[in-house]
Amino acid sequence: MAESMTATAHGSHGGDGVTKRDFLKLVAGAGAAVGAGAMAWPLIDSMNPSKDVLALSSIELDLKPIALGQGITTMWRGKPVFVRHRTPEEIKEAQAVVSGLADPAADKDRVKAGKEEWLVVIGICTHLGCVPVGNKPTDQRGEYGGWFCPCHGSQYDTSGRVRHGPAPANLGVPPYAFVTDTKIKIG
Ligand code: FES
Repeated sequence: MAESMTATAHGSHGGDGVTKRDFLKLVAGAGAAVGAGAMAWPLIDSMNPSKDVLALSSIELDLKPIALGQGITTMWRGKPVFVRHRTPEEIKEAQAVVSGLADPAADKDRVKAGKEEWLVVIGICTHLGCVPVGNKPTDQRGEYGGWFCPCHGSQYDTSGRVRHGPAPANLGVPPYAFVTDTKIKIG
């Protein structure tokens, strides 16, 4: 009787022990799996930009509607991009200036060869990030005919180069290419 009770008691303890160990292992295993999953998800997620982000990573722009002398603003990756259809006078002015610039850059290095009438620049003032004016017919374009930043008075020329005011650098030129004679792809 005592033997059988002891045997039963041993069996019972042994059984519980195994069950508890297995349970703990299972819980630990599940925790590790959840942990690994939780770690992996943001990594995988960040490597797969959503469709709308991908759609905005490059944009195509039809230049035909932009009249000579007109400038427009489009958006690319959340930033304003200015596209100016430059007149022959504006091109001549931009090409004539090669020295005395705060951020030296030749006009030919800021436009595409053979497409000098088109200037494409990021419309963010390099001083503190305001969006300069100069695209609407009623806007001031500043003394140099490009864009004027009303925040602290920086002025840009018809090549988007800073010519006056606190801005330290020219308006940036985004990566872009002509996909047809009258269409560009930005980005
Ligand atoms: S942000 Fe343009 S001049 Fe200050």
